[in-house]
Amino acid sequence: MNDKIQVITKFALQGHETQALQDQALAAKRTLESGSGAGNDFLGWLHLPSSIDDQQLSALEATAAQLRNQCEYVVCIGIGGSYLGAKCIIEALSDHFAAYKAVAGPKVLFAGSNIGEDYLYDLMDLVRGHKFGIIVISKSGTTTEPGIAFRIFKDMLEKQQGKEFAARNIVAITDARRGALRSLADKEGYQTYVIPDNVGGRFSVLTPVGLLPIAVAGFDIRALVAGAVEMEQDGDEQVLQYAIARNALYRSGKKIEVLANFTPRLHFIVEWWKQLYGESEGKDHKGIFPASVDFTTDLHSMGQWIQDGERTIFETVLSVGDQQHEVIIPSDEQDLDGLNYIAGKNVDYVNKMAELGTRLAHVDGGVPNLLITMPAVNERFLGQLIYFFEKACGVSGYMLGVNPFDQPGVEAYKRNMFALLEKPGYEEATRAIKEKLNN
Ligand code: PA5
Repeated sequence: MNDKIQVITKFALQGHETQALQDQALAAKRTLESGSGAGNDFLGWLHLPSSIDDQQLSALEATAAQLRNQCEYVVCIGIGGSYLGAKCIIEALSDHFAAYKAVAGPKVLFAGSNIGEDYLYDLMDLVRGHKFGIIVISKSGTTTEPGIAFRIFKDMLEKQQGKEFAARNIVAITDARRGALRSLADKEGYQTYVIPDNVGGRFSVLTPVGLLPIAVAGFDIRALVAGAVEMEQDGDEQVLQYAIARNALYRSGKKIEVLANFTPRLHFIVEWWKQLYGESEGKDHKGIFPASVDFTTDLHSMGQWIQDGERTIFETVLSVGDQQHEVIIPSDEQDLDGLNYIAGKNVDYVNKMAELGTRLAHVDGGVPNLLITMPAVNERFLGQLIYFFEKACGVSGYMLGVNPFDQPGVEAYKRNMFALLEKPGYEEATRAIKEKLNN
């Protein structure tokens, strides 16, 4: 078995001139590694895996053990980079039906990644009468969505279990010094972990932001970090190949990258990837649009568009080697469904043929195909995948000519929302927006 993430460009770069891009990719990598590019005050993730020591991991494991012992549920509150990293790793490693099964330890649930009133109501309903803990994650400490959710669940927990239980079982992950959450955590005596100044939200999964919830869910954060270290130390060839291929395709008019997976447990990995690449590259009116599909499910919906629609896309397939379990297709005497020709095969064999058949069909249909292979879905290879995507994002963003580490565009909706909510300090914006709506 191969023991690392691999990038295969065989069906992606046919007739593309990549020599110049190779030089650009090497220059971008040098810029990244020397810290001489735009956004260089946000490069703390670059050598993060190898800098995590045993003491840090032990502290996280101890906090996780405490929450696991004390709580039936742990509500994890955060949005964007303060949510997707933990969510995607936990989903990738969990039993698909964990929510309906009795599993060891608390169930980790998420809030604050939307403003859905019914979502919050249903979650409150679920934890009512149960011992629950809270991990509240916000680097700025002022983000509206997690702010609302935290206010609600903190109030509920204090009323339900008392202030002392709440103070012991609320953990805040935030800035070392600044922000409302830091002040509140210090005042209430919560246990806290720090999001380093030089690590942006979408690059923070290997900080306590991701590691604590993942440990609370019962997964091996040491193996996750070890996998990331492997890629940090020996992943540049794969990083460069991916960055070169996607930039070559973008420059040839392929403006949309569709990341496809054939493994249901990777759904949220792809959601995390969309944030990483969308927020990093979509600026200055440039950038590949990151889209995603879950196959074979979406072959029965989006498959038509991909095969025959506008030819502005390329496809990257995230392919998994081994499944964790085997399910054999049974033989049937009557064979009314005509499936006896695959009787005795395991389900993943069929899935792999669907994957190969899909790739070939899409290439024939004018959709270049990149392949990223991971040997299996476990902590080690997920750690590799995370670091691989992060570094390739940095290199790719510099090749594109943008600052991959800021996100000025996400402020626009907030300004309008605050104006519409008549937040103090936004009076002028409120007047302007009302005028616009009335015209
Ligand atoms: O990647 C990012 O920077 C964003 O997605 C943030 O993580 C997100 O907006 C949440 O911000 P905060 O952690 O400050 O609440």
